[in-house]
Amino acid sequence: MNKHLLTLHDWTTEEILDTLELAKQLKDEQKKGIEHHHLKGKTLGMIFTKSSTRTRVSFEVGMYQLGGSALFLSSNDIQLGRGETIYDTANVLSRFVDGIMIRTFKQSDVEDLAKYGQIPIINGLTDLVHPCQILADFQTVIEKKGKLSGLKMAFIGDGNNIAHSLLYGCAKVGMDLAIATPEGYECDPEVVKNALSDAEKTGAHITLSHDPKEAIKDADAVYADTWVSMGQESEKEEKVKIFMPYQINKELFSLAKPDAIFLHCLPAYRGYEVTEDVIDGPNSVIFDEAENRLHAQKAVMVKLMK
Ligand code: CP
Ligand code: NVA
Repeated sequence: MNKHLLTLHDWTTEEILDTLELAKQLKDEQKKGIEHHHLKGKTLGMIFTKSSTRTRVSFEVGMYQLGGSALFLSSNDIQLGRGETIYDTANVLSRFVDGIMIRTFKQSDVEDLAKYGQIPIINGLTDLVHPCQILADFQTVIEKKGKLSGLKMAFIGDGNNIAHSLLYGCAKVGMDLAIATPEGYECDPEVVKNALSDAEKTGAHITLSHDPKEAIKDADAVYADTWVSMGQESEKEEKVKIFMPYQINKELFSLAKPDAIFLHCLPAYRGYEVTEDVIDGPNSVIFDEAENRLHAQKAVMVKLMK
């Protein structure tokens, strides 16, 4: 088993599927009230340099349910925010805690923590990727559709961290993925290259275009994310104009399969990337998806920290 979760590209197909299976088991056990203190006495440090509702709460509750505890470390409060190096932070925290979840801007900071520290590092979102989110999304798709491989996912919007992790994840599990972004907002070429190379091995069919109608056609799962990611607030006005044709509304959604599910990592901005009739409509599974952050991440922690 890989020692860290930095991107889904680093994980094998088997590691991803095993983790999803464990996530299902942990969810079933939790619903039945069966205790599973796999991480009794262990502590997770959680470094945040960006806001969070789901990631913070699900990791903290998850550690508690696993018999351990979690420490919230805001970058405003720890010395990292005042210029202490990643090298020193990684070495010091490794003496205190059993794993670190970090949400920050630069992917290289997460990679450096893993390089210099002696404990498992979990990526809780960077500007580049959001692997924990996609594991929860996959758990949700399996619950609703019974499988991943052989289905088509459509992502319409910004070529951002969610799009990148979908590329990495879908390529690994053999799920078809169609991404439509506006011109100038395409996915990172390096991520695309890596994903296409993995997709060759699993048979996942990956397409990248500027055409939302083509991307969503006959999709089994349709995914939206905010047009304005954390740190891009100043670009909002400009992006809203450019992205309007990429809004997932009833008309666009009707081009997917009739039983297609609607996914959104949340937080959502109704009236922008998605309309109310879709996100609050009968095909939306957003709250199951949010709940699965808890179960999927518990599985990740058990795999990496037990
Ligand atoms: N989807 C997600 O990561 O949500 P938060 O920003 O609330 O953690
Ligand atoms: N793309 C969004 C995802 C939030 C979970 C962001 O980075 O803000």
